[in-house]
Amino acid sequence: MSTHLDKFSSATSLLTGFVLCIALSNGIVATSDKPNIIIIMADDLGFDDVSFRGSNNFLTPNIDALAYSGVILNNLYVAPMCTPSRAALLTGKYPINTGMQHYVIVNDQPWGLPLNETTMAEIFRENGYRTSLLGKWHLGLSQRNFTPTERGFDRHLGYLGAYVDYYTQSYEQQNKGYNGHDFRDSLKSTHDHVGHYVTDLLTDAAVKEIEDHGSKNSSQPLFLLLNHLAPHAANDDDPMQAPAEEVSRFEYISNKTHRYYAAMVSRLDKSVGSVIDALARQEMLQNSIILFLSDNGGPTQGQHSTTASNYPLRGQKNSPWEGALRSSAAIWSTEFERLGSVWKQQIYIGDLLPTLAAAAGISPDPALHLDGLNLWSALKYGYESVEREIVHVIDEDVAEPHLSYTRGKWKVISGTTNQGLYDGWLGHRETSEVDPRAVEYEELVRNTSVWLQLQQVSFGERNISELRDQSRIECPDPATGVKPCLPLEGPCLFDIEADPCERSNLYAEYQNSTIFLDLWSRIQQFAKQAHPPNNKPGDPNCDPRFYHNEWTWWQDEKASSSGTIGVMKVFTLLVVFIFTSSCIN
Ligand SMILES: *[C@@H]1O[C@H](CO)[C@@H](O)[C@H](O)[C@H]1NC(C)=O
Ligand SMILES: *[C@@H]1O[C@H](CO)[C@@H](O)[C@H](O)[C@H]1NC(C)=O
Ligand SMILES: *[C@@H]1O[C@H](CO)[C@@H](O)[C@H](O)[C@H]1NC(C)=O
Ligand SMILES: *[C@@H]1O[C@H](CO)[C@@H](O)[C@H](O)[C@H]1NC(C)=O
Ligand SMILES: *[C@@H]1O[C@H](CO)[C@@H](O)[C@H](O)[C@H]1NC(C)=O
Ligand SMILES: *[C@@H]1O[C@H](CO)[C@@H](O)[C@H](O)[C@H]1NC(C)=O
Repeated sequence: MSTHLDKFSSATSLLTGFVLCIALSNGIVATSDKPNIIIIMADDLGFDDVSFRGSNNFLTPNIDALAYSGVILNNLYVAPMCTPSRAALLTGKYPINTGMQHYVIVNDQPWGLPLNETTMAEIFRENGYRTSLLGKWHLGLSQRNFTPTERGFDRHLGYLGAYVDYYTQSYEQQNKGYNGHDFRDSLKSTHDHVGHYVTDLLTDAAVKEIEDHGSKNSSQPLFLLLNHLAPHAANDDDPMQAPAEEVSRFEYISNKTHRYYAAMVSRLDKSVGSVIDALARQEMLQNSIILFLSDNGGPTQGQHSTTASNYPLRGQKNSPWEGALRSSAAIWSTEFERLGSVWKQQIYIGDLLPTLAAAAGISPDPALHLDGLNLWSALKYGYESVEREIVHVIDEDVAEPHLSYTRGKWKVISGTTNQGLYDGWLGHRETSEVDPRAVEYEELVRNTSVWLQLQQVSFGERNISELRDQSRIECPDPATGVKPCLPLEGPCLFDIEADPCERSNLYAEYQNSTIFLDLWSRIQQFAKQAHPPNNKPGDPNCDPRFYHNEWTWWQDEKASSSGTIGVMKVFTLLVVFIFTSSCIN
């Protein structure tokens, strides 16, 4: 009897397999076997500025719904600033190995991600993907060859430089008096979106990209990188910008800067909702991997500060501390065995390339010498086994040399940025001003279409309060007598598992131990092999005034139309000459 059944069931499965095969080869099952990869990256979002970690100051119900439905990446490490972080994402390498480790590309500087580096977009495109970048680039604009559609993206709608005004899409470099429009549809400058709030227009573009893709019922998988401007500050003349109706939802926040920040984040949260809705409408969810992250920690104080909070972590953007390096992130895919969990494995932003490639059955060429690890199966099955080594920063800049390195629970810091001005615990969790929606927080999250759509394709009970609790960062009360870390005076050693807030410096106890000495020699080895920084000083030929007030690949323009610039320069000189001589007279 049992053999009978076995025969019957194996015959059935054979038959099913056969039918499935026919279905696949006839394109009846329209989706390809490669998943769509949708990455939504925030710019300068604080670690505590998503509400799934427990803050009720302003809520992010869509991001939270994604997080609770998927896997919360509780230890995703990024680079401390935009350019190095984006370089690591797209190359799968440490910035020290591509020369992208020092600071960021300022718009007037003629450098970019080296042209001999292979990008994630190139790898996915070679493997049959449509590749689309919406929003920020920041990996070079001085030459046309540096720009996204020359680096593996089929399309780019967005800006090439550091940031833009949320409405005019122009960038002002105040120290040099340069001001120009920076927004393109692939290579062509477009003014069609002037007056349209950038977060919304990038969201609309992402929705349209998904709809176009879905309506073609394409067997070509989609690689979509949605690099938001939000919630980065805009130009210094008007840094905090959000639509009035969004700001009005946060009237309970008395500080105006913070109220605008909440509105900027809230609009970003809506974007996550719209993108997931579009994927659902096109029946693409089932076969998509959706990742949300920030490029680096938030700037609480100083340049481009937005009131972002990395609570309870130490430091902020552009520093060696956890507040610069940890990103609040979540990922979702029907492939995951443990949806609705908090994954504690340390994962580096450079791991995403090999990990997502593995998800798509792509094996990157070993000749690329990636620093990133393929953590796909650990992520898929939800285990934590790899002791990750991460070179966060080794910056031998003469003015501010500093390094930050982790292996497992050990973290070494030496030197810092801004003379240590932003080395404290800068962010806090505001509890006196509470989002009125917080009283029905769980219902709010469960009411989002993100929740409903993701439940529909990956049904499962989720204990929201438990997940919210598990993603909280616990820091021990600073015990009396702990040695503070003064990174300008000497190296510091932390056990970041026990002390993620970097309060107790264990260097004095461990300085002669093999634990520390091994870490230190490893750091020296990385430093010795580091690619020299690609940074170059500003080039006055970039001035948008020479190019119809556009930021453009001036090194090519100069070569092709040096006549115009020449004439402009002679003219300027002449004016200066006349002006000076008339003054002297
Ligand atoms: C790119 O060129 C630089 C400088 O010649 C070199 O140091 C680096 O190793 C090269 N990178 C790759 C991926 O070939
Ligand atoms: C709002 O908060 C920021 C950061 O704490 C502070 O610098 C600023 O002065 C505050 N603004 C007002 C109007 O209180
Ligand atoms: C794509 O094609 C499949 C099979 O023909 C069909 O079931 C599905 O509804 C189509 N999707 C769209 C968005 O047209
Ligand atoms: C959730 O949705 C239901 C039905 O639309 C509505 O009655 C309820 O007020 C919503 N709750 C929240 C907290 O938004
Ligand atoms: C959710 O988890 C919390 C804390 O672990 C527990 O007290 C509560 O009973 C759980 N709720 C449900 C519905 O299982
Ligand atoms: C480590 O070695 C230095 C120099 O030899 C010595 O001064 C210091 O006391 C030692 N520290 C410990 C904790 O053993």
